[in-house]
Amino acid sequence: MKEAMLQGAKQVLDNNFQQDGFTIPSKGLYPFQWKWDSGWIAIGLAHYDIERAKTEIRTLLDAQWENGFIPHIIFHNESDTYFPGPDFHKSELHPLSHKKYRSTGMTQPPITGFVLQEMYRIAKDKEDMMNFIKEQIDKVYQNHVYFYTNRDPLDEGLVYIYHNWESGTDNSPIWDDIWDTMNPPKYTFERRDTTHVDLSQRPSKREYDHYLYLIDIAKHHSYDDGKIAEFSPFLVQDPLFNAMLIKSNSALLELYDLIGGNDAKKALLKQWQKKSIANFNDKLYDLELGAYVHYDLRNDRPIRYLSSSSFTPLYSGIPDKKKLEGMVTALIERFGGDDKYLCASFDPTHERFNPRKYWRGPVWINVNWMLYHGLKNYGYPELANRVKSDTLELIQKNGFFEYFDCRKENLDTDSSGYGGDNFSWSAALVIDLLTEENT
Ligand code: DGY
Repeated sequence: MKEAMLQGAKQVLDNNFQQDGFTIPSKGLYPFQWKWDSGWIAIGLAHYDIERAKTEIRTLLDAQWENGFIPHIIFHNESDTYFPGPDFHKSELHPLSHKKYRSTGMTQPPITGFVLQEMYRIAKDKEDMMNFIKEQIDKVYQNHVYFYTNRDPLDEGLVYIYHNWESGTDNSPIWDDIWDTMNPPKYTFERRDTTHVDLSQRPSKREYDHYLYLIDIAKHHSYDDGKIAEFSPFLVQDPLFNAMLIKSNSALLELYDLIGGNDAKKALLKQWQKKSIANFNDKLYDLELGAYVHYDLRNDRPIRYLSSSSFTPLYSGIPDKKKLEGMVTALIERFGGDDKYLCASFDPTHERFNPRKYWRGPVWINVNWMLYHGLKNYGYPELANRVKSDTLELIQKNGFFEYFDCRKENLDTDSSGYGGDNFSWSAALVIDLLTEENT
């Protein structure tokens, strides 16, 4: 079983690789390079084609803007299977955007720091990998400088996102409360996602109106961060996003230690890290819910729902023992019934939960991968192993889909795999889970 699954996963990654030096997430549905997808993909590639793993990250970082920003999508190629494309996003409006690559003007969770660390862990030839890291690491560091300089208006060490697509959890019910504060125009556009995936598994037309309107507001201000902080109706401190930044800070610190020197960078990283972790725990932990929640900076209020993002700080070593116990209880009680696979992307006990719709309920492999490592590192091997075996079982039964139904008995359809098929990060992280014993 293991060997067949590994071969299948490699096949997915090989088929999705593009001549320009990057891997598409899924044919048709996502035909370009996505920022956090590339990071997860590089972890999988590192196990069997280290040169391609390096190429994936090199291509991504090559598209970095002069201010350190790394975009969420890089439009390396033309494609008419995706909307909204480069002509809608118009990244060229920002004076420091990349002159060669067209992209979006928004970003995605900052995982590249810990991806470099993972690549180092996996690489057999450590010296060779260290040479690659030395070549690339300052770009990732500059990306963190960008975040702390431009995305933290209250100087809390907690950075904001201004668009739901920046969170990675695109249509989470978390955002519904923000959509309630907005009244965007009704756009006329031709969706392409629903030509690849059933509408019941994708965001609604009205949700897309909100997504497009947020981009239009940012474009109106030429993607200026200060102006966005002032005017965007969507301004959120997201626990997943900030947990990724914190984990990547730790990774950069460890890698700079190995490289030697770089004292000023390390000092700044430590300073950010201290402030970020303290305020993360103070501001984002919800005692009653027993886990971390989002904070709506525009409307100055916490958004009090449990989602799989609430548990990702486990991966970054953020909670202390007391918070940890609350989190494990919440995870088991709300998400972990015997009739469910871990881990639903939104609280299955809540009325907004939808088991088929993208980030409103389905299980995602990248979040499971983080939960597995987080629980293992915190000394919960049984729960960690359950997350791992649930993950492998979902893939085994359904294939390398984008997301999965968490209900063990799913009477709606004969497959519990939804969204894009042959989805790259599902394949990449399964390679990592299956081979971890050997590395
Ligand atoms: C989409 O088009 O749904 C993408 O996930 C945006 O990043």
